[in-house]
Amino acid sequence: MLTAVWVAAAIVVISLPRWLPGRVVVLRGWVFTRINGEESIAVPGDLVGVDRFREVYSHPAASGRSKGAVLSDLFWYWLSPGPEMHQEHLEAGDRYDAVALATRRILSQPRARVEELTRRCVGRTLEGRRGVVRLRDLMMPAWAEFSYELVFREPCPPHARDLIVGNADDVVTALKCCGLRHMDRRDRLTAYLVESLPRVAHELPAGLTAREQALYLQGAFFNTAVVQMSEATAHVLMALARHPDVQDGARAGDDRFLDQVISETLRLYPLFGIAHRVTTGDIPVAEGVVIPAGSVLCFDYPAFHRAGFPDPERFDPGRFAPGHAPVRELNHIPFGMPANRPCPAWRLAPLAMRVAVREVLRSYELDSTAAHTRSLPNRGPCLLTPLNARRGRGRRLTLLFMRLRDGWEDVWRSLVQLVLGTYMVWDARRLRLCERHFSGDARSAST
Ligand code: HEM
Repeated sequence: MLTAVWVAAAIVVISLPRWLPGRVVVLRGWVFTRINGEESIAVPGDLVGVDRFREVYSHPAASGRSKGAVLSDLFWYWLSPGPEMHQEHLEAGDRYDAVALATRRILSQPRARVEELTRRCVGRTLEGRRGVVRLRDLMMPAWAEFSYELVFREPCPPHARDLIVGNADDVVTALKCCGLRHMDRRDRLTAYLVESLPRVAHELPAGLTAREQALYLQGAFFNTAVVQMSEATAHVLMALARHPDVQDGARAGDDRFLDQVISETLRLYPLFGIAHRVTTGDIPVAEGVVIPAGSVLCFDYPAFHRAGFPDPERFDPGRFAPGHAPVRELNHIPFGMPANRPCPAWRLAPLAMRVAVREVLRSYELDSTAAHTRSLPNRGPCLLTPLNARRGRGRRLTLLFMRLRDGWEDVWRSLVQLVLGTYMVWDARRLRLCERHFSGDARSAST
């Protein structure tokens, strides 16, 4: 009898990586909803189908960004300091216009400069690297230097790069509930940026204090840009590492094929899980049915990107090959909706990513046996083997070890995410940064 209990216990323990992380994700969703309330309308969902996704997202009344959504308190918490200066979360108005104009100015770089800058930053990051890496960590210093040079038009000193990486890594780790916020790391970057404002090579948004200008730069260029570019590149490299045939094709092929790989990666692993809007007027959705003003709409990118594609879970860059439906007709909006505050880097980001991926493929063969999921909490474990190196038996063992370690890390990490995520959702509700900002409560500025 005792033996049977031990065997049963051993089976449960050994099988943990198979079933526990999935169960914890469901539990986490339930806890988040309990704490945050069920205020939102999922799109696509019961009220708005896939066929009207674009129409509702583009509706002029789907324009409120932060005010009036409990969810905003959570995003403001994660993106602090200065979420009220973050372009993504500013409400429409003069301040938003000034900030969006400054971002457009900084991002409007000639193609040759973007390519040269990417090549240089990624080349430096790759120097002497080989063996097992985490792709997000590998790429982040390169994108930190890239963003710094966009803003300051001068090479990024190592201490500035470390401050930027410290900030961006802290934000993305908290967003994925893999760690708590460390405001000291983020505040150090703010202080550095305030000091460095006179060296910024572009006109900054008018009518802001020096601290507000620093927070604006921190939010758009040293947080969003660095996090998004690191995550996106890690996803593309991870997809190539897990699909050797596509990797060979991308190494040998032209930029058009690489673009298809990038499009398919962002279809399957869109960087935004959801983007939310608060409605500023009624939106009619059917005969006699309206979404009333003040509703919180949650646009679900992964659901939209899967609808209408045959075998949607399969990674297949061929979906974007010439001869197939034009991209604008597909359910594919990796950079958002053109009519409703799309990503201002929609032109620059794919250009830079293409060069970055090419640089990696030029020097390395990539392999990974780790899980590849949209939120990429494992930061993309990958074996980098220089192209001219001999592939020994050690490679197979390394990949086996990678798979086992990734499975067990997932068990531990999902428990950490449950505990820390629950704490942060609770803490964000307690601090109510967004709600207090709009109600004019001055204490909101300090957190
Ligand atoms: C591959 C990389 C990137 C992807 C896939 C991406 C994706 C997106 C998406 C989907 C949105 C719209 C979300 C919504 O509707 O609320 C967005 C907004 C935004 N993105 Fe990106 N992004 C990327 C890189 C960047 C970079 C490099 C920057 C540099 C500044 C940037 C800055 C922003 C800003 C400021 C917004 C808010 C726009 C506004 O509300 O006016 N993104 N991004």
